[in-house]
Amino acid sequence: MSLETILHSALDAITKAENLQALDEVRVTYFGKKGQISGLMAELGKLDPDARKARGAEINKVRTAVMSALEAKKNALEEAELNRQLMTETVDVTQAGRNSDVGTLHPITRTMMRIHEFFASVGFDIVEGPEIESDFYNFEALNIPEHHPARAMFDTFYFDEHMLLRTHTSNTQIHVMQEEKPPIQMIGYGRVYRSDSDVTHSPMFHQVEGLVVNKNVTFANLKGILTEFMQQFFEKDLKLRFRPSFFPFTEPSAEVDIECVICSGDGCRVCKNTGWLEVLGCGMVHPNVLKSVNIDPEEFQGYAFGMGVERLAMLRYSVNDLRLFYENDMNFLTQFR
Ligand code: PHE
Repeated sequence: MSLETILHSALDAITKAENLQALDEVRVTYFGKKGQISGLMAELGKLDPDARKARGAEINKVRTAVMSALEAKKNALEEAELNRQLMTETVDVTQAGRNSDVGTLHPITRTMMRIHEFFASVGFDIVEGPEIESDFYNFEALNIPEHHPARAMFDTFYFDEHMLLRTHTSNTQIHVMQEEKPPIQMIGYGRVYRSDSDVTHSPMFHQVEGLVVNKNVTFANLKGILTEFMQQFFEKDLKLRFRPSFFPFTEPSAEVDIECVICSGDGCRVCKNTGWLEVLGCGMVHPNVLKSVNIDPEEFQGYAFGMGVERLAMLRYSVNDLRLFYENDMNFLTQFR
């Protein structure tokens, strides 16, 4: 085949190539291992030096011409492809955007943070404490020995003879008192579990526990801090009422009522017409509890209190069914933005 014929048929094939794949096939036909132009180069070896030089120059001309035609066509095809994409893959910038919702903190989390904020501001350490607990921390060390009737106060979930799900955050008092020497000023918080379920009880709920151990701690200190806290939490000049009560781990013990935040004490459905709402339990740490963690009750005294976070959240946000907190209904939750 003459060089002229090869040149023309190559240029013709390049012109006819409709896409990049077809063009590459043309390249292989001429420049591949068995390609026509590659073949011509191989034959050069058989010629004598002068003829080789002349023939070589001619072949080179054809080679360069075909190569630049391939290159030009490749660029043209690529540009055409880009234009096609630009034409068909359009973005309608006038179309309305899709909203992605920003999450919100759960009302229980918010309530807990609000409680922490107050106590942290007056110098309490915040500790979570374990939910899976041994009998010792949940009961024994809190002056509730085995077979003590007070165990009936808690409908405990047991794993086995010794391990259980904590029924209150009071376990955290013991952990902290074992690890630290007085003065102690701490808030324990987190999930607690009791086998109990209705409109006002859930098998899992949250508590916040306070403990202060130091020299000369009195019941008056306890009254002071709780009054301050409740008034700040409800943003109201509420009255508090301390009713004598019983807890094995405090002596004396009290249950605390606040003036009803719904009717301000006039009497309503929420306070069952009493004008008061029970919100927490508290008292002076029992000497036996201090002894169980090797703190001398002659030298140190303490006060402790425990409250339900759900209860406070329900009152603060006027939620009338505890179960709403656990259903994850977006219509309910997004109200707490
Ligand atoms: N642990 C008690 C409860 O769960 C509350 C409490 C805590 C009472 C600390 C007194 C002192 O009911």
